[in-house]
Amino acid sequence: MATDQSAFIVNRMPILAMLPKFLPGMTFKKQAAAWRAQFTELAERGYTVALKRIKSGTYKPCMISKALTEHAGEFDPELIKYTATQVYTGGADTSLSVLSSFFLAMTLYPRVQEKAQLEVDQLLGVNRPPSFSDCEKLPYTRSLMREVFRCFPPIPLSEVAGRDDIHEGYHVSKGTILFINIWAILHDKSVYGDPDDFRPERWLSENLIDRESDSMDIAFGFGRRACPGQRLAEKLVLTVIASTLSAFTITPTIDHDGKPIIPSAEYTDGTITFPRTFACEIRPRKPL
Ligand code: HEM
Repeated sequence: MATDQSAFIVNRMPILAMLPKFLPGMTFKKQAAAWRAQFTELAERGYTVALKRIKSGTYKPCMISKALTEHAGEFDPELIKYTATQVYTGGADTSLSVLSSFFLAMTLYPRVQEKAQLEVDQLLGVNRPPSFSDCEKLPYTRSLMREVFRCFPPIPLSEVAGRDDIHEGYHVSKGTILFINIWAILHDKSVYGDPDDFRPERWLSENLIDRESDSMDIAFGFGRRACPGQRLAEKLVLTVIASTLSAFTITPTIDHDGKPIIPSAEYTDGTITFPRTFACEIRPRKPL
């Protein structure tokens, strides 16, 4: 919510942040202070836990433990703390959003699910869960992931214009906040025919990646501020998708008359969007 440009007027008029907090209309300052305290606690907690574990010799390799052991003394503790927190917060809700969309898509498109399960089963057999290194060998499942990112991109982008510019006749002053409508780019009819159809096959047959229309690159932003976690996120999301398909089948729930209840596929507003709560059944494919 803090990053939602329309949620707080101070996001549009930064000068308001200079006014004292006792003035009317300054409740955003109280809210900002509460969020800052939460964020600081998150940063402190992760750092303190890692530090304790290093001291007791029980730590596992992670960003903080690496910085404090292999690179001891090289970085300011505040930098380590807040960089690790930024990496965690950058990846948490975005990955949750895209994986929730995957469950929604599987509930809505059973044929896609069957096809992907066939591919996963053929590669892995029945007894081996997928690993990171299997990702390259699952072209249909990878296309399914591309289609989830295209149909349900988790995050719209805002960028600040670095210089005065003219775009299609509009003057854009340096410092203007620009909103890039990622959803609209990924639903452009002239690039993705029938953009509202969920069709992983399009990634295998239409040279979309060669035409710089790869949803994976568009959904992770552009230029200097593009997501630094993209490659990790791709592998994580694909591995979770393949593991889920290998172990479970996702179906709609059934009503009293035995008919499937098809979710409405509505999404929340905000900086990171999520499917609104929906019901589905997740059944193990093999006996437990
Ligand atoms: C489904 C997964 C993800 C999506 C869709 C996503 C998308 C994005 C987008 C659109 C941005 C803003 C780029 C811009 O302003 O141009 C961003 C920034 C960022 N992401 Fe991700 N991300 C994902 C996962 C991750 C993961 C797993 C990590 C960490 C391991 C991560 C770390 C970050 C960080 C640190 C930034 C801020 C970069 C900066 O401000 O310069 N993201 N992400």
